Amino acid sequence: MADDFFIVQGLGGKRTLAGELSVRGSKNAALPALASALLFDGPLILGNVPLIDDVEVMGEMLEELGAEVKRNGNGDLIIQTKKVNEVALPRELAKRMRASVILAGPILARFGEVEFPHPGGCVIGARPIDLFLEGFEKMGAANEEGDFGYRLRAPKGGLHGADIFFRQPTVTGTETLLLAATRARGTTILRNAALEPEIVFLAELLRAGGAQIKGEGTPTIEIIGVEKSLRVPKKTIRIIPDRIEAGSFLILAALAGKDVSITHCEPEHIRMLIESLRTAGVNIEVGKGSLRVCASLKKEKAYKSFSIKTHEYPGFPTDLQAPATVFLTQSNGEALVHETIFDGRLAYTKDLVAMGADIALWDAHRASVKGPTPLRGKELHGPDLRAGLAYLIAAIVARGKSVVYNARLIDRGHERIEERLKKIGVTIERVSN
Ligand code: EPU
Repeated sequence: MADDFFIVQGLGGKRTLAGELSVRGSKNAALPALASALLFDGPLILGNVPLIDDVEVMGEMLEELGAEVKRNGNGDLIIQTKKVNEVALPRELAKRMRASVILAGPILARFGEVEFPHPGGCVIGARPIDLFLEGFEKMGAANEEGDFGYRLRAPKGGLHGADIFFRQPTVTGTETLLLAATRARGTTILRNAALEPEIVFLAELLRAGGAQIKGEGTPTIEIIGVEKSLRVPKKTIRIIPDRIEAGSFLILAALAGKDVSITHCEPEHIRMLIESLRTAGVNIEVGKGSLRVCASLKKEKAYKSFSIKTHEYPGFPTDLQAPATVFLTQSNGEALVHETIFDGRLAYTKDLVAMGADIALWDAHRASVKGPTPLRGKELHGPDLRAGLAYLIAAIVARGKSVVYNARLIDRGHERIEERLKKIGVTIERVSN
C-alpha cells in the first residue's frame, strides 16, 4: 500500500504563524503504560492517550495476546488483560516496533515465560537488547536464542529480585525491568537507571496500583516485588504530555511564528531546549503547562547558533536533535551537532543540504552546521519519525513547495499533525493513497 504524503507551502523564512498548538500525550509514556496493564487485576483506564500508529500497534499486540482494548466515549483507553494466556508476542507486529520488547517484562513476570523476535523500529542505528536480557538473566530467567528470536523462562517460583547495573542507561530497558521487578520475589535495585520523565510516570502509575517503588527519576531505583496483581487505580491515569512534540513545536514557533502558544505541555521536561533557545535569542514565555513564543520586533533577524551534544535526560534529547539542527541552519554562526546516543541519526542532514543548508557530516556522530542559509522546498523522504517532523519544520521555513513522503513514520508518533499545523496558519495538505 502506498504511503500518504504531505505537501507543504513554505513561508520563505517569514515568521507569520499565530495561534495555539496543542501537545498530545507522550508516545513513549503511553507505550509502557499500555504494557503495564498486564500487571493489573482489572481494566486499566488511561487518559490522554495519543491517537497514533505506535499506540495502535501496542494495542493490537495486547489483543493478539488475548486482552480487550477499547476506547470509551471520552477517548480514554481501557485495557483488560484478565483473559491473556499467550506468551509469544505476535511476530510481525513486534518486529515493526522497538518498544514491543517492553511487553517482555510483564509477560515474563506474570506467566514465567515469554517469546519474542528481535524488535524492529526506526532506523536510527544499532539498537541491541543485551541489557534487557542480562537483567532478566540476573532475575533468574534462562534465555534461549534461535531463528524465532528469544525465549525466556523464569525459574520455578518466578523471577527473583536482583541488583542490576546498566552499563549504559536505557529508557525502555529501565522500564521493562521495572515492570518485571514489580512482580518478582524480593527486592530489585536498578542502578545507572534512566532518568527520563516517562520512567517517573511509569513508576507513579505502578505505585498507584500498590507497587513498591522508590528512587525513580534518580539513577538508583529500588523495587520490592508484590507477587500478586496490582489493583486498578480508582481514577483514570492521564498520560504525560509528549515532551518531544512540545520541543519540536517550540522550534517551529521560534523559526516561523509571530505569536504561537504551545499548550498542554510540561515545560520543565524540555528545560534544556528552552535554555538553549533562549541563549540563541528566542523570546519564550513559560507558563503553567504552556509556552509562548513571540517574534521580536525586528522579525526575521537570525538567532545565534549553539552547539548540541545529545545526552540522557535532563540533557539534550536525541529525539530533538533533528528539529534543532533545522533551527541551526537558520541561526548565525557555526555549531557542532554531536549525537552521542545513536549511530545512525544524522543521515537526514543530506536532505537539509539539498534544501540549501550548509552542513558538513564528519562521521556517524558529528556534523557541523553553518548558518543562516535560506532553505528551498524539496521532495523529502523522512527516515524516522522525529526526523520526519524536522522535515516538516524545514519545509515550513523553506521557500516554495515541499513534498514530505513517509507520512506513516510521522503518524507513528504525532497525532494528525497536519490538522494542528493548519490551525496556526501552515499551508499543508495530506495526500492519501
Ligand atoms: N542500548 C544498548 N543495549 C540495550 C539497550 C540500549 O546498548 O540493551 C543502547 C542503545 O543502542 C542506545 C542507548 O543504549 O545507544 C540508549 O538507548 P535506549 O535503550 O535508552 O533507547 P530506547 O529505550 O530504545 C527510547 C525512546 C526513543 C529515544 C531513546 C533515547 C521509547 C519507546 N523510545 O528508546 O524514542 O530516542 O529512548 O532517549 O521510549 C522516538 O520516540 O522516536 C524514539 C526513537
